[in-house]
Amino acid sequence: MGSEKRAVYGELADQLAALVAGEPDLVANSANMAALLYHGLSEVNWAGFYFAREAELVLGPFQGKPACVRIAWGKGVVGTSAARGAAIVVPDVDQFPGHIACDAASRSELVVPLVAGGRVVAILDLDSPRRSRFDDEDRAGVERLVSVLLAHHPDWP
Ligand code: SME
Repeated sequence: MGSEKRAVYGELADQLAALVAGEPDLVANSANMAALLYHGLSEVNWAGFYFAREAELVLGPFQGKPACVRIAWGKGVVGTSAARGAAIVVPDVDQFPGHIACDAASRSELVVPLVAGGRVVAILDLDSPRRSRFDDEDRAGVERLVSVLLAHHPDWP
């Protein structure tokens, strides 16, 4: 990872660990994590969670404009990431077949699944108004942050 991004994500990981320390509430901690990412990363217009609920993903804590509430498993970038159980970097949302446009300003996207007990329990979604905002270094950095949250909530429902 480039030293600049590595430093940013390292700092965010420390801040996240401090924010969640001693707090058992999942909604409170994911809400603070969304705010941390939204304000701590440059050129991000949406940052938030979708929680796995049976065959759908339902909007959770986020920062940004109001967004699509329910996404079917396997649909859009979010549902595709959930079905694959793997992160997806989308350099240009117009080139991703089935992309769901919640905020028309979004040009690129990074989606990371939260896996607990061998299943996808949630998706973390980041949007940017700039094409190619996210790369593999961002994916690794955000996966690191997700692992901080998951380690704090080993019994994620
Ligand atoms: N673009 C996503 C939908 C969620 S919003 O970006 C907040 C998708 O295609 O799944």
